[in-house]
Amino acid sequence: MTYFTEETSEQVVTARLDKCESERFKAVMSSAIKHLHGFVKDVQPTMDEWFAAIQFLTKTGQICDDKRQEWILASDTLGVSMLVDAINHRRPDGATENTVLGPFYVENRPHREMGDNICLDGKGAPCLVDGIVTDEQGVPLKGAVVDVWQTNDDGFYSVQQPDEQPDHNMRGVFTTAADGRYWFTTVKPLPYSIPTDGPVGKMLEMMGRHPMRPAHIHFIVSAPGYETLVTHIFVKGDPYLESDAVFGVKESLIVNFEHEGAGWKAKFPVKLKKKA
Ligand code: BEZ
Ligand code: FE
Repeated sequence: MTYFTEETSEQVVTARLDKCESERFKAVMSSAIKHLHGFVKDVQPTMDEWFAAIQFLTKTGQICDDKRQEWILASDTLGVSMLVDAINHRRPDGATENTVLGPFYVENRPHREMGDNICLDGKGAPCLVDGIVTDEQGVPLKGAVVDVWQTNDDGFYSVQQPDEQPDHNMRGVFTTAADGRYWFTTVKPLPYSIPTDGPVGKMLEMMGRHPMRPAHIHFIVSAPGYETLVTHIFVKGDPYLESDAVFGVKESLIVNFEHEGAGWKAKFPVKLKKKA
């Protein structure tokens, strides 16, 4: 019998998985135990530090509700969401790249007519966004669904200000015709801060990091027979492109927003990958 000691800890805890029926779960838990024990041996936390870690985990769970997801924020700000996303969406050269979903996507967004304005509060610099949804060879896709959302000009998503913003402000779903084209009116996005009033905000502050995301518009683009693409476009020249709080920026997603009349315009062609 091997009893638990500092030296045998990983071996002893892993041995208790011997009756685990799922091979996958067993592999996942073995790896979790290996890395957790390695982490604790590396850090050698004091009892106070370990209790502070438990308090962080507790508060992160307690602040979550159906509108606030602090765990996603924790995963995003530590680069874990982007890593899981990268592992699960390896795309061939040429297909549009994905990035994080973020915690402010909502179900039941309104379907809108092509060209409609998603900005319902009248604030901000008008901007026309247009593009064409194609397959990897450039063939236009009919019936592709382009689902977009962004913050308003004050830097908040509609779900963060349900009493201040019109319902579904800055959100819309558009469906392409046979030419694959889509276009909608919005406002030029601005950089904004992720929520900092919870434990993740405190963690960033203690790490000496800022909470800003570069200006972006979120997209989910789907079409029958193709892998659904979750992505953003970022505004070229934004001061936070190289230090996004959630590591979401990819070079191919940086778009030139150009002046047009009194407003702005941006082009975002989307190439979807065929389902395997
Ligand atoms: C967002 O862009 O909506 C977002 C993504 C990750 C964390 C917080 C916000
Ligand atoms: Fe966002």
